[in-house]
Amino acid sequence: MKKSVILDNRLMAIVRLIRPDVVVCDVGTDHALLPCYLKQMGQKRVFASDKNLNPLAAARETIQEYDIGGIELVLSDGMDNIPFFDNMDIVIAGMGGEMITEILSRYSPHKNQRFILQPMTRHYHLRSALCSFGYEIISETAVNDNRKSYTIIYAKFTGIKSEASDVFRYIGKQTDRQYISFELLKLEKMANTDKSLLITIDKIREKI
Ligand SMILES: C[S@@+](CC[C@H](N)C(=O)[O-])C[C@H]1O[C@@H](n2cnc3c(N)ncnc32)[C@H](O)[C@@H]1O
Repeated sequence: MKKSVILDNRLMAIVRLIRPDVVVCDVGTDHALLPCYLKQMGQKRVFASDKNLNPLAAARETIQEYDIGGIELVLSDGMDNIPFFDNMDIVIAGMGGEMITEILSRYSPHKNQRFILQPMTRHYHLRSALCSFGYEIISETAVNDNRKSYTIIYAKFTGIKSEASDVFRYIGKQTDRQYISFELLKLEKMANTDKSLLITIDKIREKI
C-alpha cells in the first residue's frame, strides 16, 4: 500500500486555498511535500520547481518515497521556466518576503491566476510590493504555533496599483488576534528606535 503524505499545519493551510480544477506550481518546492500531497488528492497538473539542484534532488526522493507519478519537476528561478497557464495557482512559500517580491517583480500575471504567498520574514515588504505591482490581497490566513505566527496571503492581479498604508503593511487583511498581538510586540521593539511607529501601533491596537 502507498504511504500517505502528511503535511504540517502551515502547508495544510496553503492546500486549503488551492482551487481543485487548476494547474498548480509550487515555486521553491524544496522537498516537494506540497506537490506530492496535491497529487495524492487528485490535482490534475502540478509543477514543482526550485532554482537549486539539491532541493530538486530532495524532491525526486520524496516523489519516489511516496511513489507518486505525474509531478513536473522544473529547475527554474522563480517562474522563469514554467509554462504559462491562465488558470493557475502559484504557491511561493517558506521564503523571505523580499525574495517572494523579487520573484513576482519579474512575472507577468494573468487575472485568473491566484497567488498563495507565505513569507517567513518581512511580510510588510511583500504587502507593499503587492499593492504597488497591482495585486489585490483577497484574504490572509494565520498559522500559529507556540513561538511564532505566520501569514498566508491569498492574492490576485487586478492591475490597479495602490500604496499600502502603514497599518496595512504590517497586518494586511489579518484579523487573527494572536497574529496581530505577535506583530504588535515586534513593532513595539522597533519603536524603541523609530518613534514614528507609535501612531501605527495605536491604530493596530484599536483592531484587537
Ligand atoms: C525553505 S525552502 C521552502 C520549501 C517549501 N516551499 C516550504 O514552504 O516548506 C525555500 C526553497 O526556495 C528555493 N528558492 C529560493 N529562491 C528561489 C527562486 N528565486 N526560485 C525558485 N526557488 C527558489 C530554495 O532553493 C529552497 O529550496
